[in-house]
Amino acid sequence: MRVAVVGCGGAGAQHIRAYQGLADVTLVGVCDVDTGRARRQAEATGARAYGDTAAMLAAEKPELVSVCTAEYGHVEVAIQALRAGCHVFCEKPMAHSVEMAERMVETAQEVGRVLGVDYNYRHIPVFHTLWEEIDRGSFGDVLLVNITAHAFCYHHSIDLIRFLFGQVVEVCASINDLQSQRNYAWHSPDAFLYVPSLAAATIFRMRSGAAVVLTASRLRDLGDTMLDLEVIGTRMRVALRSLPVSDVRPRQVEAWPRSLDGTTRFGLDADGSSFSLGDSFRASITAFVRALQAGEPVPTDGSAGLDVLRVEQAVVQAYRLGTTVRLLG
Ligand SMILES: NC(=O)c1ccc[n+]([C@@H]2O[C@H](COP(=O)([O-])OP(=O)(O)OC[C@H]3O[C@@H](n4cnc5c(N)ncnc54)[C@H](O)[C@@H]3O)[C@@H](O)[C@H]2O)c1
Repeated sequence: MRVAVVGCGGAGAQHIRAYQGLADVTLVGVCDVDTGRARRQAEATGARAYGDTAAMLAAEKPELVSVCTAEYGHVEVAIQALRAGCHVFCEKPMAHSVEMAERMVETAQEVGRVLGVDYNYRHIPVFHTLWEEIDRGSFGDVLLVNITAHAFCYHHSIDLIRFLFGQVVEVCASINDLQSQRNYAWHSPDAFLYVPSLAAATIFRMRSGAAVVLTASRLRDLGDTMLDLEVIGTRMRVALRSLPVSDVRPRQVEAWPRSLDGTTRFGLDADGSSFSLGDSFRASITAFVRALQAGEPVPTDGSAGLDVLRVEQAVVQAYRLGTTVRLLG
C-alpha cells in the first residue's frame, strides 16, 4: 500500500513512524508547507518531500493519505485527497465545525473511499480491556461513570464515552473557560470546547440509562495523570487511577467485588512492559490499515468523528442555554 502523510509536526511524525513499522506499506510522500520539516522527514525515511498536497497527490498517487495538519486545516486537505481517489486517515478532531465534518463524510461517500479519524485512545490496552468486559456483561448494568481528565484528554474522553458506553441521549454542562488561557488558538470557541482551559463539568445521559460525569481542566498535571476513570455497574465496580501520559497504564486499580483481581485484569501486564502514547498511534494506524486491506469497517470512521463533534457542540449549547440539550429523540 502506497501511503503519504500531510503535516509533518508532532502527530505527523507519529503517523510516519507507524507506517514505517508496517512491512507491506510504503511511505511514498511527506508533505508540509514548512518544506524544511517535510525534507527532514524525507531524509529520514526515503520518501519524497513536498510543500504542496496537490503536487504530491499527482506525482505519487498514494492509496492512503494521513491528514496531520492543524485542527482547522484538515477539511481542505482531506477532501482534496478523497477527490484524488485516496482513502484518508485524519487526525482528530476531524474538522472545526459540524458542517465541515459533514462535508468530509459526504465526500467520502460520494467518491467511495474510506475516511477514518484517529481516536488512538481506543487502542490503549486498558481501555480495550474495559470495552471487552463491558461488552461481555461483566459489569452487569453500567449505572454510573466518573471521568476526571486533563483538558488535553477531554476531546478523546468524549470518544471513549461513545466507544465504551454507547450513544449519548442528552447533555448538561457547567463551564468556566477562557480562550486566552488556552495554549493555542482554537478556531471555533463558540461551537466546541475541545481543550477546556479552566474547568468543565458535564453530565451525559446515555441511551443505556447510564449517567457519565466528565470533568476536565488544563490546570491538572498532565505529566501525572491523563485521566482517571471509574465504572460502577450492578455486578462490578472498577476505578482506574493515575494514568500518566508517559506510560498509559493505571498506577492504581480499585475493583469490587474484592475477589476480583483488578490489577491483573486491567492492563498492568505481568511482564511490566510499558505502553506509551506513541504506541497508541501505532496501534490505531495498524488497525486502520488492516481493516482497509481486509475490506472491513475501520475502527473509527468519519461518522464516529462527526458524532464526537456533535456531542461537543451539545455541551457548549447546554452551557450557553443553561439547559439540557437532547441529541437523540
Ligand atoms: N491523536 C492524538 O493523540 C494527537 C496528539 C497530538 C496531536 N493530534 C492532532 O494532530 C493534528 C496536528 O497536530 P500537531 O501537534 O502535529 O501540530 P503541528 O503544528 O506540530 O503540525 C502541523 C503541521 O502541519 C503543517 N501544515 C499546516 N497546513 C498544512 C497544509 N495545508 N499542507 C501541508 N502541511 C500543512 C504545519 O506546517 C505543521 O508542520 C491536530 O489535529 C492535533 O489535534 C492528535
